[in-house]
This record gives sequence, C-alpha cells and structure tokens, in this order.
Amino acid sequence: MRHNLALGPPRTTVPARRRPRVTAPVSDISNTGNARNRPLTLLERSITLVTHLTADREGSMKIGLAGAGRIGARHAAALCALPEVDDLHVADADPGRARDLAARLPRTSRVVARDAVADLFSAGLDGLVVAAATDAHAGLVERAVAARIPVFCEKPLAADLDGTFQTVAAAATAEVPVQVGFQRRFDSGNAAAREALASGRLGWLHTVRSCSFDPAPPPAGYVPTSGGLFRDCVIHDLDLIRFVTGREVVRVMAAGANRGDDFFRECGDVDTGSALLVLDDGTLGQVSATRYNAAGYDSRLELFGSKDSIVTGMDDRTPVTALPERDGEPDAARDGEPGGAPRRAYGGFMERFADAYDAELRAFVDVVAGRRANPCPPEEALEAFYLAEACELSLREGRIVGTEEVRR
Ligand SMILES: NC(=O)c1ccc[n+]([C@@H]2O[C@H](COP(=O)([O-])OP(=O)(O)OC[C@H]3O[C@@H](n4cnc5c(N)ncnc54)[C@H](O)[C@@H]3O)[C@@H](O)[C@H]2O)c1
Repeated sequence: MRHNLALGPPRTTVPARRRPRVTAPVSDISNTGNARNRPLTLLERSITLVTHLTADREGSMKIGLAGAGRIGARHAAALCALPEVDDLHVADADPGRARDLAARLPRTSRVVARDAVADLFSAGLDGLVVAAATDAHAGLVERAVAARIPVFCEKPLAADLDGTFQTVAAAATAEVPVQVGFQRRFDSGNAAAREALASGRLGWLHTVRSCSFDPAPPPAGYVPTSGGLFRDCVIHDLDLIRFVTGREVVRVMAAGANRGDDFFRECGDVDTGSALLVLDDGTLGQVSATRYNAAGYDSRLELFGSKDSIVTGMDDRTPVTALPERDGEPDAARDGEPGGAPRRAYGGFMERFADAYDAELRAFVDVVAGRRANPCPPEEALEAFYLAEACELSLREGRIVGTEEVRR
C-alpha cells in the first residue's frame, strides 16, 4: 500500500527563512592562511553583523558541511568556489578530519573547522550539506529541518527504509527544503537524454539500461554503513531511470555476486549486482553495478526506442574497447598500443560527474536563496529507495518482487 504522504510531482520549494544572522565567533582552529581568515576585530565584527542583517543572501551565505570524507572534500571545494558562499563551517565525527580539510581548502571563502558536529546547529547557518557516512544522514537531516536549516543531503537519504520514511516526513512537516544528492540528474548528457525521450525522437521506449562500474572497491570500512550495493550505488541508476523516463518501476528481479574481496560477503553485501526492471508502460530496464571494473569508471545510460537509440557517458574516456580493433591504426585515445582501456579512462565518479557535482551545489544555493524549486526533493529519494529495497529483497529471496510490496 502507498504511504500517506503527498508524494506526486516535486513540491515547490518553500523559500528559505530570512532570519537575521549573527556572525559566529571565529574558532581558533579556523584556517588563518590570509587576512580574510584571521579573527575579526571588534569593528569588523560590527560591520559584518550589519552587512549580514541587511544583505541579500547572494554573496553572503554561511553554509555548514557535515562529513569531511571523500565526497565531503569534493563538496567543500565546490562550495568554496561559489560566489554566494562566503563562510563554510566544516565538521566531522572525527574533528581531525574537519581540521585537515579546512586547512587544505582554497582561501576563496572563510573556512571554519568546528570541533563538534553539534556546533553546526548553533552556527547560524543558511544551509547545511550532509556528506557524512550514510548511517548518520537521517539524524543530521532531521536535526537541521527542526532548526529550519535547508539541507543538501548526499544519497541515500537514510540507511534504511524506516529512516528514509521518517526523514521524508520530518522534512514535509517542517516545510524546509531538503535536496538529495542524485547528481546524475545534473549531468548534461542525462538531461539531454530526458529531453530527447520527451520530444518523441526515440519513439516508444522498449529498453533502458544503466550501469555503474567502479574501477576499485571503496575502503573496507565504508561498506558496513553503506546500506549495500543496491541502496548505496544502484540507487543512482534507479533514480536516473525514473528521472529520464518519467515512468515508475512495477517489478524487479535482482541477482548479485561475490568474486572480489571477502569484506563485502562478510558484511552481507555483494560486490556486483544487476536487476531486470519492468516499468509501468511495459518498457524493460536493466541496472548493473560492480566494485571491480579495473578498466575505469563507467556510468552509461542507454535508451533504445522504436525510432532511435541514444547513449550517455560514451566518449573517449569510456573504459571499454571496441572490437575488432583496427590493425596498425593507433587509436588517439589509447597509448598507441592496441587493446587496453582508453588512456584517459575515467578514474572514478568524481571525474565522470565533476560538472554534475558542481551543478547540484549551485542549484542548492539557489534553493537556499529561494530562487528555484528543489530539483531533487526527499519524496523522489524515497521512490528510488523503494526500488533499491525491492532489489535487495529480490536478491535475498531469489524471486521477482513487485514494488508495491515494499511501499508504505
Ligand atoms: N553522490 C555520489 O556520487 C556519492 C559519491 C560518494 C559518496 N556518496 C555518499 O556520501 C556519503 C559519504 O561518502 P564518502 O565516500 O565521503 O565516505 P567517507 O567514509 O570517505 O566519509 C564519511 C565521513 O563521514 C564522517 N562521519 C561519520 N559519522 C558522522 C556524523 N554523525 N557526523 C559527521 N560526520 C560523520 C566520517 O568520519 C567520515 O569522515 C555516503 O552517504 C555516500 O553514499 C555519494
């Protein structure tokens, strides 16, 4: 049975609050690499306070970042590059990580490392970016919306369905924007694919395929709190298929394999997975993911229609070799040797989706400023999570699962 929240199309964003903001004291662990980052004098503090009380959000946002790991570092650098963000407060469960990251960031914004994650909620933030480990997302988002702070939260919104459902409900009740980090929606190829399908150019869709092949597994310590391959990784493919086709998935049949490191199996996870999807208009879909694709990072979306077929993520960095190879014709994308992966194969998701990560955070500051609707609200994340959950259930029980089985 469907849950009773008003899901439907993305809600119009509730403009972020415009409350006066008092400049937080500059911590003695803030980066102090130039004049912009040194502690403010009394006069400067007064000027800053007046400016904050009168300025529009553009050019004067104070953003928090919870989580200073792999993606947190990427988001921190992107936030510092945004003209709207003049203050970034970084915290991590491990305060040393927050300090290290703050010290490494470019001095384009004032960066403050906070000793405790809890400090973020009393820092007078305009917005919070949650890039902590997955099992911390729900608690951080719920705390932020209770404090009426707009949130950007990395996917998945929570580690399990209960947490996702509660977080969606908390955001809906508080009417505070929560943008979920499905960056593939911001990839120019995927956006163009959505338009191509909507324009009718492809005719009716018979098959859609999406893959996420990581060149190497994440650190072993990442896996136990990740939620598993389908919730952690394939969820991107599931969201993308919904986003591009505008259709819902009604049935899934998933399979998984463990042929790599033991730590996946020990956590009850798989290192490779695939699922067959049946969409509500009869289109067939396939999603596949692995942690072991040494040729490089491969994220492609393929749409096959009655009139035309298209692919995104296919360029001279796609780590795949076309056969037969052309004898004696060195391929410009390779090292002059036949065979092997392209010389500049995507090394990971950070490279493949660099523009998309930047674009989703640009969108977030626009959401904070009330300039645009939320491009990826929590209800969308819940829909993707239902599908990941259905895949996990199918994998565990070895049967076809109707998505209605996992809905609340
Ligand atoms: N959108 C994407 O493409 C993408 C890519 C990578 C990771 N992610 C997501 O981002 C999140 C982080 O992934 P990562 O690869 O950066 O992991 P990571 O292990 O490198 O970093 C996680 C960080 O969170 C910190 N942390 C744990 N609990 C915390 C808490 N309660 N408060 C603050 N910090 C806390 C850890 O100390 C660590 O520094 C995961 O949810 C993951 O699914 C998304």
